[in-house]
Formats: sequence, structure tokens, C-alpha cells
Amino acid sequence: MKIYIDSANINEINELNNLMPIDGVTTNPSIICKENRNNSLELLKQIREILRDDQLLFTQVIEDNYDKLIDQAYQLLNLLGKDTVIKIPVTFNGLKAIQYLEKNNINTLATAVFHPQQTNWAAKAGAKYVAPYVNRIDHHGGDGIKVVKESLCIIKNYDYKSEVVAASFKNTKQLHECALIGTHSITASPNILKQSFSHLSSSSSVAQFQQDWIDKYGSKKLT
Ligand code: E4P
Repeated sequence: MKIYIDSANINEINELNNLMPIDGVTTNPSIICKENRNNSLELLKQIREILRDDQLLFTQVIEDNYDKLIDQAYQLLNLLGKDTVIKIPVTFNGLKAIQYLEKNNINTLATAVFHPQQTNWAAKAGAKYVAPYVNRIDHHGGDGIKVVKESLCIIKNYDYKSEVVAASFKNTKQLHECALIGTHSITASPNILKQSFSHLSSSSSVAQFQQDWIDKYGSKKLT
């Protein structure tokens, strides 16, 4: 499974990237706004600089007018590098832009997916990635994991080249369920990513090992 950090916070990205096997960073306009920067492009550049070459940066266009959207996509690519994945919301103009960009070898992620048929259209249009919003779907009375599962099924049925990047998580159970159904990738906040790895019983077991050693040997080292 590929795992991305859903954040634009430099400290959080740095911390996690140093500790965990991370495949890249995803951002959206709301996440960037949280950082309160006067120059958001500068922030995106900083994120790109702290990532390795083999790690991906996903960044979202804000325009919805087709021409402006394409123009903004190319500005982001010029600034952040050709490997940047352009996130495009699943509007009609977005769908048109995905088709154009994919024909020009630009990788796109169709974002804000709430129904598997949006996956079908985005994958057919050539989106390299599609992002169903698990928690937002659950929050509105739907079944986020079912949308992920059916998106995976549609991609497989038609041999589309798209991958599902499940997004919008509020708990580790949602993330775990995505792993069980073979979701290609997930993106989650640093907190959710950390919570999905750490366990209180693991911490207390480690503490007990150290205490047993100290009780027996004091400050004597093993090596
Ligand atoms: C990711 O690409 C999405 O923009 C993000 O996961 C949305 O998450 P939220 O529902 O927690 O805002």
C-alpha cells in the first residue's frame, strides 16, 4: 500500500517522513490555508524540497474555468516539477481537464469523489488516481468503505490504469478497512497515520522490557 501524508505543515511532514516509510504528500486548498502563509506557492516549494525524488507531491488546482484550470495546472508543474500530481475536483470542467492533461502525459488525481460512478468517469477520462472521501461519505450517512470497494471493482472490471487513493479519514478503523480490501493507497493526517501504528500495549511492553533489564543489571549495557 502506498501511504501519503495529508498535510502542508512542514514540521509534521518532516517528522513523519524521517520516521515512517512515506510515499509522498497530498495537499488541498483547505490544508494549505491552515498554514497561514502569505505565499502558498513558496510553501508548496518547501514541501517539494523536503521530499525525496521518489516521493510524490499532489497539489490541487483552485480554478474551475477550464482554460484557467489548465493554465494553473501548468504553472504548478513549472514551479514544482513535472512529476507533481495535479489534483482536480470531479466537476464537468475538471473531467475535461483530466482528459486533456492525461493526453499530455500529466498525472492527475480526481478528487472529492463521493460515488463510484465518479470513479468510473474519472478513470475512463485517464486520471492516474481517484480519491474517494471515506469519512465525508460516512458523515453524510453513506458508506465510505463501500465507495472505495466499488471504485476498486470498477477499475479492475475495465482494466483502467487508475489507482484509488482513499482520503478523508477520521479514525484508524476506516484506514484499516481500506487495507483489508486492497486499496492501492491512502492519504491521512499525521495524527491518524501515527495512531494507526502506535498501540498503548506495545508501549507498555517496551517499558516493561527496559524495566526488567534495569532491575536485573542496573546501568550495565547489553553491548
Ligand atoms: C485529500 O486529498 C482530501 O483533500 C482530504 O483527505 C480531505 O480530508 P478531510 O475530509 O479530512 O478534510
